[in-house]
Amino acid sequence: HLPVDVDISALPPGQQIVVTWQGKPVFITHRTPEALAVLQDAAQTARLRDGPSRDNQQPPYATNWHRSLDPRYGVVVGICTHLGCVPAYKPLPEGKGEASWPGGYACPCHGSKFDLAGRVFRGAPAPYNLPVPPYSMPTPTLIRLG
Ligand code: FES
Repeated sequence: HLPVDVDISALPPGQQIVVTWQGKPVFITHRTPEALAVLQDAAQTARLRDGPSRDNQQPPYATNWHRSLDPRYGVVVGICTHLGCVPAYKPLPEGKGEASWPGGYACPCHGSKFDLAGRVFRGAPAPYNLPVPPYSMPTPTLIRLG
């Protein structure tokens, strides 16, 4: 497989692009400062099911709170770890209190919800976080998958 280069220079904050890598959808998101604050919010991280992500769910360089190289850019394989549906991009918070969720990815098949780092919330059938594919950033605006 050849690497896939993705130019993210025109990807505005709050937006996502979906690219195909090795036949799989890969979500590349430009996370806003507000979204990065939510990823570090203790009240939200306490609700994660697979918080300290299993080792095989991301490369070592993405074993951090934002699960990526540059915190501003999320890079995850868009295949639900339950039964393989493609989660929908829902970047904005919804609801209040216990019923709230901070936004991220929602699986249309059985309701698993993930944050914008691809981390799954408790109460979901999906057992693991969305995988982070191997990638590098040869420049600050170029993501090289594979
Ligand atoms: Fe996503 Fe079942 S396939 S929740």
